[in-house]
Amino acid sequence: MKKLISAILFLLPVAAFAAGGGTTYPNDKANVNYGDKASIQNGAKLFVNYCQGCHSMEYVRYSRIAQDLDLTEDQASALILGDGKLGDTMDKAMDAGLAEKWFGVNPLDLSLVARVRGNDWVYNYLRAFYLDDSRPYGVNNTVFPSVGMPHVLADLQGLQVKSDELVAAEEAITSGKARIEQLKATLKDADASAEAVAKAEEGVALLEEEVHDAELEIAKIAREGKMFTIVEEGDMTPQEYDHAVRDLVAFMAYTANPVKLKSKAIGLWALLFLLVLLVLAYFLKKEFWKDIKKK
Ligand code: HEC
Repeated sequence: MKKLISAILFLLPVAAFAAGGGTTYPNDKANVNYGDKASIQNGAKLFVNYCQGCHSMEYVRYSRIAQDLDLTEDQASALILGDGKLGDTMDKAMDAGLAEKWFGVNPLDLSLVARVRGNDWVYNYLRAFYLDDSRPYGVNNTVFPSVGMPHVLADLQGLQVKSDELVAAEEAITSGKARIEQLKATLKDADASAEAVAKAEEGVALLEEEVHDAELEIAKIAREGKMFTIVEEGDMTPQEYDHAVRDLVAFMAYTANPVKLKSKAIGLWALLFLLVLLVLAYFLKKEFWKDIKKK
């Protein structure tokens, strides 16, 4: 019996993590809870207030949200922009042509973004805006470098800069890579002496190790949450801000995959059903063998 149970537990699907190449930082987990409707509701409110000016959700109707998230009629109509109706899709406030003129790109429809990019990516992206004078809106983003979106949540998060540790590690990588390129030029040079080539090869190996160390250092800085330093406080503490962004991502995760709300419940019932079946099968087996053993 014990063996049977452990075999079943073993076969339960284990969440697979996609180990993607080209990691960007921060690289934290969004930990969206599809069962937490209050979180998704709060996310919907944040989306309407802070995102829908520029981004639509063409595949999402207010009425569906109201139904899925158990909203009252008043709560639902509070979400609706302008003179929209409950049966409408979540169109953006801004005209597409105007948006393109302002931002150079037409901000994407976000109905499916959490599925395309992944919950974690969106969660990290919205926490990774930092001050950068060279950008048109004064901010850049470590997850989406040179992004064309302003930091629309700045009044909640405040403004942050890259921390000194992060800047130092990044500089080590840039300068290390530049020196590697220089040395590689020596290696390609047909006139270089054997001695010079050997020295260059040694240098490249050493620098590659340094670059690798600096990359590990960045991963560590990110893990410890030390990538940024707040220089102007927002309305929220960093913890509150992370929570708000998690809610926002929960809402986008729901719109990208509305059946998830239900599939989790269905999955639990299915497991329960299998357990009951297991117990019945066990007693049935006992019943059958009882007679056989007697003979
Ligand atoms: C002022 C207009 C504006 C607002 C408001 C805005 N965005 Fe954006 N957003 C943009 C633009 C422009 C881009 C495209 C950036 C690019 O391609 O460089 C973008 C890109 C994105 C992307 C990346 C899409 C992709 O996969 O390439 C995400 C995710 C996103 N926005 C989420 C949000 C969320 C969530 C909010 C609300 C908190 C929000 N945006 C508010 C203008 C806006």
